[in-house]
Parts: sequence; C-alpha cells; structure tokens
Amino acid sequence: MTHIPTLLIVDDDAGLRELLRTLLAGDGYCIEMADCGELALKLAAELLPDLILLDVMMPGVDGFEVCRRLRSDAMVADVPIIMVTALNDRTSRLIGIEAGADDFIDKPFDSVELRARVRTIVRLNRFRRLIEERHRADLLEEEKQRLVYDLHDNLAQRVSSVHQQLQAFAHRHPPRSKQTQEELGAILQLAQSATRETRQLMTSLQPEVQENVGLATALRMQIEECQAEGWDIAFDNGLGGERLSTNAEATLFKVAQEALTNVRKHAETQRVALSLQRVGSSVRLEVRDWGRGFDLTAAANPRLSGGIGLRSMQNRMKLAGGTLEICTQPGEGVTVVAELQA
Ligand SMILES: Nc1ncnc2c1ncn2[C@@H]1O[C@H](COP(=O)(O)OP(=O)(O)OP(=O)(O)O)[C@@H](O)[C@H]1O
Ligand SMILES: [Mg+2]
Repeated sequence: MTHIPTLLIVDDDAGLRELLRTLLAGDGYCIEMADCGELALKLAAELLPDLILLDVMMPGVDGFEVCRRLRSDAMVADVPIIMVTALNDRTSRLIGIEAGADDFIDKPFDSVELRARVRTIVRLNRFRRLIEERHRADLLEEEKQRLVYDLHDNLAQRVSSVHQQLQAFAHRHPPRSKQTQEELGAILQLAQSATRETRQLMTSLQPEVQENVGLATALRMQIEECQAEGWDIAFDNGLGGERLSTNAEATLFKVAQEALTNVRKHAETQRVALSLQRVGSSVRLEVRDWGRGFDLTAAANPRLSGGIGLRSMQNRMKLAGGTLEICTQPGEGVTVVAELQA
C-alpha cells in the first residue's frame, strides 16, 4: 500500500493558505488546513501529519506556541515543522529554533525551493518512521522468540512431566472404585489438554518454528506434542544441535510432519520412531511406524490414490537435491527415509 503523505498548512491568511495549497497540490500530498493555532493543535493530534507548514504570526496562539506545545506532546512531538517567517527575521528564527522548528521558509517564498524542501523533509520523515516501525517489529520478534524458548524450556516441560507422572501414578495405583477411576481420568484429561494447549500456543507464536530453533529442536517439539496425545514415540537425534541450511531444515521438517500426519490418519498405531543422523556429508531422517502399512504400488498410482502427501514429500526432496524412500508392506508398518546433502 502506498502511503500518501499528509501536510498540514497553518496560516490565518486565507490567501496564503490557498497559495501554499496550489503550489503543493500537484506533488501528491493530502493537504489539510487550519486558520488558527488552536485548530492546528487539534488537527495535528488527529491527523499525525507528515509535515506542518506553520505561520509564525497568528492571532491567539501564535506559531511559536503551537510549535512548543506540539514538541511537548509525546504523541505528536516527532512531526516535522517548517516555520514560515518574514524575510530575514533573525529573532523569529532564533525563537523558532528554541521552540523546536525543523526548518524555516521566508515569506515571500520561492515556489521551487519550497516544494524541494517540503519533499525532502517528508521523505526523511517517512524514512525515519519506517526505521522506527522496523525496529519495533524486530523487538517484538525477539520478545516472541524469548517467550517461545521460555514456554518450551519451562512451562511445556513441567506440564508434560505432570501429565507423564500422573499416568505413571495411575498405572502403579489402579483406582479401585469407579468414582476414583473417573476422577483420575478427568485429572489426566486436564493434564493432557494443558500440555496440548501449551504446545499450540508455542506453534501459534511461531509457525515457522524450525527456522528459529533448528531442525532437531523443532522435531523434538513436534514429538512432545504427539507424546502429549499418548503416542509411544522415540527420537534418536544423532545431529545434536547442528544447524543445516534453512532450505534443508525446512524440507526435512515438512517431510517429518507429513509422515507423522500419515501415521495419525492411516497407520492405526501410535508406536513411532524418528531418527535424525549425519551420514558423511548427508543428513538422514527416518520416520518409522509399526502400523498397518499399505500397498506401495497402489498408493504410487495417482489414479488409485487420491492423496498428495507422499508425492509432495517426493517432490520436496527432489527439489532439495535429496532422495526419499518408502518401505512398506501391508501389516508391516511404514518406514520413510529422507536423505540429502547438508
Ligand atoms: N503411515 C501410513 N500407514 C498406513 N498407510 C499409509 C501411511 N502413509 C500413507 N499411507 C497410505 O498411502 C496413501 C497415500 O498417502 P498420501 O499421504 O499421499 O495421501 P493421503 O494421506 O491419503 O492424503 P493427503 O496426504 O493428500 O492428505 C494413503 O491414503 C494411505 O492409504
Ligand atoms: Mg498424507
């Protein structure tokens, strides 16, 4: 979206206001006008203009006072102000500088010079605002990042450990009465949903999680999510904290996600093993399940299989210069092996 800069012209003389408007109208600004200091202050707060052209001599609140008040109001303090003064009026300039004016234009003004100054100041101001916005966005991103780490290292671990210990407890002390069984069941369900919700919160804070925390940690987070759902899932991480290229990490992460989704949808098991290993100059990801398996020849035929998951995994790996192998037979589970140079 293109930003249309707003100029606020402040002058008690209607003729001068119109003259300024006519001079600047062709340069693509949105022009607003005020005929006195009070209105100028009100409009400045409402519009947050990109520039104020401010006449010094006005009845009531004069230009200096408008300038001082704007500078002392945090909301509008940064708006650039050009003061329009009488020719060579040094005293006015000095007072104007003290009041916080950015620049001065003498009356009568040279139209080319006026347009050039306005253009320069508006551009600089736009640039300054952009830098400020970007800085704020960076700070926010860092803050979010810290929050995700905190959630992952503290809250998520604790909540999931409460869930696991409760499960172990229920296993060691099987409830005798129906009522205790129901109550324990309800507590377990609460612990499980707390774990799931914490993980969902982390994912929503950071959808492209693997870009920031690395492939191994992102996979571990994914696995903890499955564990929270009661899966028996192991993770053998031979890669440690080693980082790969963004593309390699994203590709392998998406393959793992797709494979786990297939287990959830089709395998009829919750027993899974995931492994991430360095093999020479390559990295090898393996997702194995002990479910019902399937007939690979039928699934590979696009006319017989309506799904795109397996094909998209193949394509992703091919694009990244790697290979994808699927070993399966009905009744024997599925092993997905993705390998690429990284
Ligand atoms: N882990 C698995 N266990 C059992 N069958 C599987 C497994 N993974 C895939 N399949 C079988 O292979 C078929 C093709 O899988 P694919 O991922 O391409 O498609 P889909 O999962 O059906 O749909 P989509 O991935 O497009 O949502 C599945 O329909 C399913 O029959
Ligand atoms: Mg699928």
